[in-house]
Amino acid sequence: MEKILVTGSLGQIGSELVDKLRGMYGNDNVIASDLMKKDEQIELIEAGPFELLDVMDGEAILNVVKKHGIKRIVNLAALLSAVGEKNPHKCWQINMGGVVNCLEIAKDHGLSVFTPSSIACFGPTTPKDKTPQETVQRPNTMYGVTKVAGELICDYYHSKFGVDTRGVRFPGLISYKTLPGGGTTDYAVEIYYEAIKKGSYDSFIDANTYMDMMYMPDAIDAIVHLMNADPSRLRYRNAYNITAMSINPLDIEKSIKKFMPDFKLGFNVDPVREAIAQSWPNSLDDSPAREDWDFSPKYDLDKMTEDMLKNLMIKLDIK
Ligand code: NAD
Ligand code: SER
Repeated sequence: MEKILVTGSLGQIGSELVDKLRGMYGNDNVIASDLMKKDEQIELIEAGPFELLDVMDGEAILNVVKKHGIKRIVNLAALLSAVGEKNPHKCWQINMGGVVNCLEIAKDHGLSVFTPSSIACFGPTTPKDKTPQETVQRPNTMYGVTKVAGELICDYYHSKFGVDTRGVRFPGLISYKTLPGGGTTDYAVEIYYEAIKKGSYDSFIDANTYMDMMYMPDAIDAIVHLMNADPSRLRYRNAYNITAMSINPLDIEKSIKKFMPDFKLGFNVDPVREAIAQSWPNSLDDSPAREDWDFSPKYDLDKMTEDMLKNLMIKLDIK
């Protein structure tokens, strides 16, 4: 079995991906890593190999690769959009440093690399509806700049050096296990927590602002599916558009009300995150992902809402 290293593995995606991969390939074959240990992730840290790893330190990544005989890296370490705008230089250093270090090691030691891009790779001049796979990519956030540059460098290492690079442009991801790390789409997670805790929520994103979203089980399936896809079918080595739903805060309110009729949605719009959201597409065209590696999400908005509310009631111990 090829060993897999996951960077940034204690975050929103990594904490669920590591569980899934360990279930598929065995605990010892999936090496979790992050900048520091987090108390709330102690189960994951103790369930299998864990390394403290800063992705900006290429030598440290190489040591871990050699120590465990790693053949595949899933690089999830990053600063997200809202945090990235507060510290653009650090965002550039971490997001690009991580990708470049992983690709260099992959080139020299025959590894494959999965690294996610985002809807943030698009900008205000991108066509907003059914945004095509290949189109204008001129983002106006540092996070978005790192995502476009990350896509291009993955393409470059594939065509120039034959590195097996794969990636998706994730939409906003909604989950109940681990809180998101400071993105613009975080409102779509907060709304469910606050619905359960208080019965109401004030959204920092405006009522009619559409963004693509996806429930975490579909995101994890997409990573596993693309990592195992037949390479001869893959037309894109930068990143594939994927989405499950194009929604705004009013859509989520309507869906929550089907299960909690008294839920109330208010607005306290944050101009910074609203401007970021306005610069991103309303909806993506993900037909190339469906054609090339059979991407097919299972959760629509209501199915996700039902599952989120049910699991948050248990997590937050609300009867
Ligand atoms: P997250 O913020 O929840 O987790 C990122 C993890 O990276 C954290 O655990 C953090 O401690 C770690 N980290 C930060 N700096 C590091 C460093 N220098 N070295 C090692 N680890 C470091 O993020 P996430 O939501 O899990 O996102 C993972 C990837 O998916 C990122 O590339 C992100 O851009 C992308 N993505 C996420 C979403 C989403 O909605 N969650 C959407 C689109 C793309
Ligand atoms: N969820 C991410 C963010 O809002 C999208 O990449 O930053």
